[in-house]
Amino acid sequence: MAEEKRFKRTLVTTALPYANGPVHIGHLAGVYVPADIYARYLRLKGEEVLLVGGSDEHGVPVTIRARKEGCTVQDVVDRYHNLIKKSFEDFGISFDVYSRTTSETHSKLASGFFKKLNDEGKFIQMESEQYYDEEAKEFLTDRNIRGECPRCHAADAYGDQCEKCGSTLSPDELINPYNAVTGNKLVKRRTNHWYLPLDQYQEWLERWILEEHKEWRSNVYGQCKSWLDSGLKPRAVTRDLNWGIPVPVEGAEGKVLYVWFDAPIGYISNTKELLPDTWEKWWKDPETRMLHFIGKDNIVFHCIVFPTMLKAHGEYNLPDNVPSNEFLNLEGDKISTSRNWAVWLHEYLEQIPDKQDVLRYVLTANAPETKDNDFTWKDYQARNNNELVAIYGNFVNRAIVLTHKYFEGKVPARHELTDGDRATLAEFAEVKKQVESLLDVFRFRDAQKEAMNLARIGNKYLADNEPWKLAKSDMKRVETIMNISLQIAANLAIVFEPFLPFSSAKLRMMLNIDKVEWSMLGNMDLLEDGHATRTPELLFEKIEDSVIEAQMQRLENIRKANDIDNYKPKAVLPDVDFETFEKIDIRVGKVLDCQKVPKADKLLMFKIDDGMGGRTIVSGIAKYYNPEDLIGKEVCFIANFPPRKLKGVESQGMILSAMDADGALKVVTPSAEVKPGSSVC
Ligand code: MF3
Ligand code: ZN
Repeated sequence: MAEEKRFKRTLVTTALPYANGPVHIGHLAGVYVPADIYARYLRLKGEEVLLVGGSDEHGVPVTIRARKEGCTVQDVVDRYHNLIKKSFEDFGISFDVYSRTTSETHSKLASGFFKKLNDEGKFIQMESEQYYDEEAKEFLTDRNIRGECPRCHAADAYGDQCEKCGSTLSPDELINPYNAVTGNKLVKRRTNHWYLPLDQYQEWLERWILEEHKEWRSNVYGQCKSWLDSGLKPRAVTRDLNWGIPVPVEGAEGKVLYVWFDAPIGYISNTKELLPDTWEKWWKDPETRMLHFIGKDNIVFHCIVFPTMLKAHGEYNLPDNVPSNEFLNLEGDKISTSRNWAVWLHEYLEQIPDKQDVLRYVLTANAPETKDNDFTWKDYQARNNNELVAIYGNFVNRAIVLTHKYFEGKVPARHELTDGDRATLAEFAEVKKQVESLLDVFRFRDAQKEAMNLARIGNKYLADNEPWKLAKSDMKRVETIMNISLQIAANLAIVFEPFLPFSSAKLRMMLNIDKVEWSMLGNMDLLEDGHATRTPELLFEKIEDSVIEAQMQRLENIRKANDIDNYKPKAVLPDVDFETFEKIDIRVGKVLDCQKVPKADKLLMFKIDDGMGGRTIVSGIAKYYNPEDLIGKEVCFIANFPPRKLKGVESQGMILSAMDADGALKVVTPSAEVKPGSSVC
């Protein structure tokens, strides 16, 4: 294991989200809330820290989005960069810089980085055959190629993955590949690319990760080990694409840096953009510690590829840790931007305003630190109502309200202590150490649990001591109880600051303390006797069922829309001969009257002009129609079905309906009016 190094400062980076869509709870839970908690914690400790972020604006995902929306790529990245940036601000992610990979600083720096490696012979160049669209005159990246899946034979698998069966694919495996955008057939063409020879760094990486970084999270360490065990191969760092940073070499027209080459360099560029004069100490001083906060699909890039780039470059520090999270699911299903299966941050704030901290709390409580985890709206409500409101909020509110009731809002003095008082005070002596020991190893979930336990202690202390009952008989005792309660509240404002910054600010405001430091945690004399608190306000509010139901309904609607998109017609039945078909007498009739069948919520009763004197037919489509809307329409029905009674009404036939992907029924009508009684053949 690496020796304990001494650091002067910490550079915290967060994965740069693709500017091809808004950010959702999965982003927040996996990367930005943990990184923010950590950066806030270090700042509270008075350490030198930078939190660096930005949008990833190159690569294929943004170009696909632009084609889908029929606008330019620049439009797409401008729009989403601004939306994403605003969402992070709204959720209190305390970036020191949030820039973008289309910035001038970045393209210069990334370009220079590539050029240096190229000049020093750190790359290899190789020719390969790639799919090419002769009509559109372009090479295609894996994501832009579609075709039949060789495994499950879904018609529209991607060049890198089949979404139906989940197989990882390469474009060569697809059957009948075509251009996903134009639909054109593809041919193979030779092209030249630059490769980073990871294989040459294999031994070095094995030592650096497997031996010197055994302390990395087991999911991160394990993934690295499995990559290393299967042997590293050279990786292409250029692409044939017209969106990105041009390869800065003569004769490389039409080629750009691969997005995964330029994006992590964005961490450097964004630091430089923020601190044009002093950025280098953050990247080159060995006394700077670097941490990459990412999601698990980014592990190989941050633990193997980017470090190899940095090593090849030679001037920059390597990451000290890469606290990667697993994935957060939503109501049991994988979050997906393309299927709209997500809770989008900007929508959340529109629909449930001012509840940033509630979401931060719930996401940290369910942080996917060691395994995938699930977000559900029921759990969100329960954690708000049973923990934030019932414990933390309730305690703080009672403490401040009672102080106003008995002492005009001023902190009373402590007198003689009981054993219970001493025990409660003692519980806070170790708090700082306990929470630190968890935060220092990135166990945010457990650290937040500890913080909530302190609120629990406060809540129990008030409930056990019942100062409201003593107010008539023993005011001295009430003074002591309220003093201790207020000291606990002040400690809560500190310990929750990294996790719930909005609530902490509000609590500090009510307690009338402006500057807090981490070192004050555990101090039970934070508020002096006579210190004036301000008017109490509620720290958290109960979330009603109706709010949760609206969110569940929203997801239900998305699920339905996705079901319709993914609808596959059912298999065709075995053959029948013509004589069998001819035995079914299908006719057209005109609806003369249509009404609900009493006490049968599914059934409609039709009076039909069948050209033969009329008949009554009962059909189970009441859920899908207003009876009046069907009057006057022509429908198809089976005329030679034996009559049968349905809820007391005799039905003389059967009306034909088409079943939609979501199970909804639509009656079948002729495309133009025909004489009632006409045969369908
Ligand atoms: N845009 C990538 C993703 O969303 C992350 C890029 S991280 C960086 O998966 F290091 F490359 F910036
Ligand atoms: Zn498949």
